Amino acid sequence: MCGIVGFVGKHQAAPILLEGLSKLEYRGYDSAGIAVRDGDKKAEVVKATGRLKNLEEKTDDGKAVVGSCGIGHTRWATHGGPSQTNAHPHVSGNCSGSASGTVESDVVGVHNGIIENYQELKEKLLKHGYEFYSETDTEVAIKLIDYYYKKYKVGPIDAIAKTMVRVRGSYALEVMFADYPNEIYVARKDSPMIIGVTDGETFIASDVPAILNRTKNVYYIGNNEMARLVAGQAEFYDLNGDQIEKELVEIKFDVESAEKGGYEHFMMKEIHEQPKVVRDTFNSLYKNGTVDLSEVGLTEEDIKGFSGVCFVACGSAWHVGMAAAYVIEDLAKMPVRVELASEFRYRKPVIDKNMLVVVISQSGETADSLAALREAKARGNKVLAIVNVVGSSIAREADYVLYTLAGPEISVATTKAYSCQLMATYMLALELGVVRGELSQEKCAEYLSELEQIPECIEKILDDKERLQWFAAKFANVKDVFFIGRGIDYAISLEGSLKMKEISYIHSEAYAAGELKHGTISLIEDGTLVIGVLGQDDLYEKTISNMVECKARGAYLMGLTAYGHYEIEDTADFVSYIPKMDGHFIGSLLVIPLQLLGYYISVARGLDVDKPRNLAKSVTVE
Ligand code: M6R
Repeated sequence: MCGIVGFVGKHQAAPILLEGLSKLEYRGYDSAGIAVRDGDKKAEVVKATGRLKNLEEKTDDGKAVVGSCGIGHTRWATHGGPSQTNAHPHVSGNCSGSASGTVESDVVGVHNGIIENYQELKEKLLKHGYEFYSETDTEVAIKLIDYYYKKYKVGPIDAIAKTMVRVRGSYALEVMFADYPNEIYVARKDSPMIIGVTDGETFIASDVPAILNRTKNVYYIGNNEMARLVAGQAEFYDLNGDQIEKELVEIKFDVESAEKGGYEHFMMKEIHEQPKVVRDTFNSLYKNGTVDLSEVGLTEEDIKGFSGVCFVACGSAWHVGMAAAYVIEDLAKMPVRVELASEFRYRKPVIDKNMLVVVISQSGETADSLAALREAKARGNKVLAIVNVVGSSIAREADYVLYTLAGPEISVATTKAYSCQLMATYMLALELGVVRGELSQEKCAEYLSELEQIPECIEKILDDKERLQWFAAKFANVKDVFFIGRGIDYAISLEGSLKMKEISYIHSEAYAAGELKHGTISLIEDGTLVIGVLGQDDLYEKTISNMVECKARGAYLMGLTAYGHYEIEDTADFVSYIPKMDGHFIGSLLVIPLQLLGYYISVARGLDVDKPRNLAKSVTVE
């Protein structure tokens, strides 16, 4: 939800800010803006609605805006619709709504997050003579900083600290003060922010890809912390205004991993990266012929003390939990719950204190998942985070961390992170099974050699993708799609359906196949596409029966199953085959054709695959 960047150093800031924003556009893309200062001159603010290219055109790719200190923002609207007036940066003065120009204000800033009590604060500021030009919560935050700055005649850090004490919500905030040229002040609570430093230059960003080609040395600013940034240096402060020490950390990602590398879309590139990143994730948890979770911090003693597992996550990460539940219940014989983080955090769930809560998240910043993690910890549960982004909030707050090795995932629709998460949960299931005595070492070894095959099997599916492309072109204008399956196949159907709707804008539903006849089957009519997911041999015939019921009502049937089940061609109108695999783990293969189908249908419909409407990659608001 929104991306922020900042730069202070030897070079012109605007082109660097625009380049950084182009790497963060996946976080929000309804408007963008920058504010740049040239020495002690006033800040120049330029904003544009729509995609970043509008801002690039307006600023001649940044060349028209002079100065070596600046901040930038790409927006996913929350408070106030997408408009030039509501676009960031916002200022403490009475106008930042113009297309571009020098601002007379003392304070100018950008913000990612939500200020929940902005109405109450706005009223306070109105009483003190402030006027508001936008509908945003951010304008209120900037004006509140200005208010404290002037009222108490304090420096920037103290003014921001006083503001932080008054606001409720989440923020990654960047602010420039007219009185402090060549300095940027930042503050953070529950929204991501990293600070990169290299020889004589300092960078700020919401996410690693924005600065990866500039520096790999970053500071992670913590919750309720602030920083003063000048060229090549960063000083950190706590809420009391006391300076604190931080360590510079080296990022392991390489620059290419955040580029398209010849593919038309990040999503297709990321689909093709799956064999490698799934293998990397497997190898990171596999030592001396067995599962090794020592780097995660989970000891055998810990595992023996857990009474069950409770997965908490959102969206696709929740779908991973849904699939993992079947695997853990069967292999480790432990009770498993799967909770939507947005529900869990408010439902006051009754969970055993000895349950291991597993929060799954690519970004590690999803607001609901982070809140659920805190809720679980407050209840005394131990939390394991399965996270992709190193140093993210969820990773930092969990008791144990299992990093997936997907690398930067840029496309809004997740593919490779999802697949790595699945692999991580399989390894967890095996370890739980062995330590709890439910799985012999021999059986575990058998399963591990099955898991080792997954990357190669994914490659085989990718080699045969053209058939799906053809099928997608044929069904690009279909109105409704139903994905049905049982057991793990149902969990994979959930993901297939989400891939379809989020990037193709086609209505789709995932149903436990046996549940269809309890209401939903009334929606089936001539031409409705029904995709039967058939990875579980013991449930195969049951799901086939449900598919036949749909066909009898006019549905067009696609079957997705393993090579060998050729008799399905008597029932289904189109079949996509995947290599055979043990039923516990076959979801890792079944999902690939479904990702490809969503992708190809989106392309056939001429849509923006990587940046679907109304969405953002990292959902840092509730
Ligand atoms: O970063 P997270 O894994 O916590 O994100 C959770 C969901 O927002 C995410 O999986 C979302 O559903 C995907 N973008 C869908 O493709």
